[in-house]
Amino acid sequence: MTLPTLSTPRLLLQPLQLADAEQIQPLFANWDVVRYLNSAVPWPYPADGALSYLRNAALPAMASGCEWHWTLRPANDAERLIGVISLMDTPGNNRGFWIAPAWQRQGLMSEACAAVNRYWFEVLQRPLMRVPKAAANIASQRLSEREGMRLVETGESDYVAGRLPSQLWEISREEWLTTQQT
Ligand SMILES: CC(C)(COP(=O)(O)OP(=O)(O)OC[C@H]1O[C@@H](n2cnc3c(N)ncnc32)[C@H](O)[C@@H]1OP(=O)(O)O)[C@@H](O)C(=O)NCCC(=O)NCCS
Repeated sequence: MTLPTLSTPRLLLQPLQLADAEQIQPLFANWDVVRYLNSAVPWPYPADGALSYLRNAALPAMASGCEWHWTLRPANDAERLIGVISLMDTPGNNRGFWIAPAWQRQGLMSEACAAVNRYWFEVLQRPLMRVPKAAANIASQRLSEREGMRLVETGESDYVAGRLPSQLWEISREEWLTTQQT
């Protein structure tokens, strides 16, 4: 199934494509973006990091129907890429996101999450969304809390910044449906 473009009040979410590597590379190669991401992200970020991730990992996973990636773009400036949001069928890791620092703290990722959560539960019909995060990543936690997710597990994980306390949050389809009624 071809991935649709999604829209929110302030954003366009366009399906990820290889040409996006050029805009992703300088935005993603930023300590403030990567430090609480999984240690699988190479750091220092190689010059071809975005291109090889898209070509060898994200786009093949989209093609095989187990991951869904969108770029975030301001609705009034759709050529400009400002972040990425992803859904994955990986157990215990169903959603990931980042947005460039200049665009943070404006509620934009909350808008993007609302759109992709709907896709996860209504289009993909998944019963449960689980999202891991570093305990130190307060912004990511606030986002999950606001969405009505529950903290279900704590532990430790390897991040780009090193081994750190981690959390697992979840929301079931039934719980998500309840949040849509208010
Ligand atoms: C996590 C991230 C995506 C949040 O994006 P954002 O667009 O700034 O988020 P929002 O503006 O929708 O804010 C969500 C909540 O986090 C809070 N928040 C945002 N940045 C914050 C910060 N630096 N410190 C504390 N709280 C913060 C907001 O106030 C908001 O809380 P509220 O609902 O109580 O007002 C962004 O900080 C980011 O890209 N970080 C780097 C990559 C990353 O860590 N990804 C997540 C891995 S699990």
